[in-house]
Amino acid sequence: MDGAYRLGVGQAHGKIILAGEHAVVHHQPAIALPFSSVKLTVRIKAFTADDPRSPSQVTIHSDYDQGDFFAHSDHLAGIQTIWSAFFDEYQLVRPSAIIQIKSTIPPERGMGSSAALATAFTRALFDCYQINLDSETLSDYTHRSEQIAHGNPSGIDEQIVRSRDAIYFKKDEMPAYFQLSLPAYLVVADTGEIGNTHRAVSDVHLLLKEKTTIVKGWITAIGEIVEEMMRAIKQKDITLIGKLMNKNYYYLQQLTVNNEKLDFLVQNALSAGALGAKLTGGGRGGCMIALAESERIAKKVAKHLKTAGAKETWLLSLE
Ligand code: PMV
Repeated sequence: MDGAYRLGVGQAHGKIILAGEHAVVHHQPAIALPFSSVKLTVRIKAFTADDPRSPSQVTIHSDYDQGDFFAHSDHLAGIQTIWSAFFDEYQLVRPSAIIQIKSTIPPERGMGSSAALATAFTRALFDCYQINLDSETLSDYTHRSEQIAHGNPSGIDEQIVRSRDAIYFKKDEMPAYFQLSLPAYLVVADTGEIGNTHRAVSDVHLLLKEKTTIVKGWITAIGEIVEEMMRAIKQKDITLIGKLMNKNYYYLQQLTVNNEKLDFLVQNALSAGALGAKLTGGGRGGCMIALAESERIAKKVAKHLKTAGAKETWLLSLE
């Protein structure tokens, strides 16, 4: 506690799904990587009632919201739930507070911004009150928030935005952590278009209901691609990983979670020399990834993607 207010800080990074998004909601495996080029930090200043600097309410300062924390109910609903649950469960007096969010994770682009917000927010709250936060409690809080943001999340985002290692993930199971080390680069590109994971996930559910046999087949095929990719990762076979990314994208297109811009950027990445390319995350906008065998090719791919209309690109060494 610093003077008459408590300060808590929490952080989390972005994520990239290498393979298996959407199918992971239906109990197939997926592979995800931490993406620490983009980060989100939450600072909470909780005031004691007699502090003259105390604001009369809980206020938020972020690039997207300014003012009463509880007045912005849509995209802040997840962390509002965390706030209420925390003070109820630990039977603490609700303080006046200033919440500051600083983020370089583009929102609603399949980079895990909502999970990173829930994680950083939970960490900041526990830090503020100096309560030990174990992994299970963190998962419990972030999952509640993600259920509001995503409806029926697999839980992959919550795990990867706080992991230093890559994960092989199956719904309702503990993730298997592994160190990804490949002689390759990943190019990440933002289409600049906002995705809608919630909508895309429920549309896949509808499609599954309508054409159960065929859609089940696509989802199972994605699971098989992930298993084969894990073997290819162990063998450092980047050519095969690239092919599997393309195959994964084909099935994501069948599931209708692609869009024109993603298709266009994927095509551009491949013609610039990428070994494979696909959307990453919820799709219908958001981000795509491309695998390149060298930094030189990765830079060339990134340049092509920019010319083709990508809003921003990042290079990630997988070495
Ligand atoms: O769009 P994102 O970053 O929230 O990624 C979601 C990944 C999905 O598989 C589409 C959904 C989930 O809950 O796993």
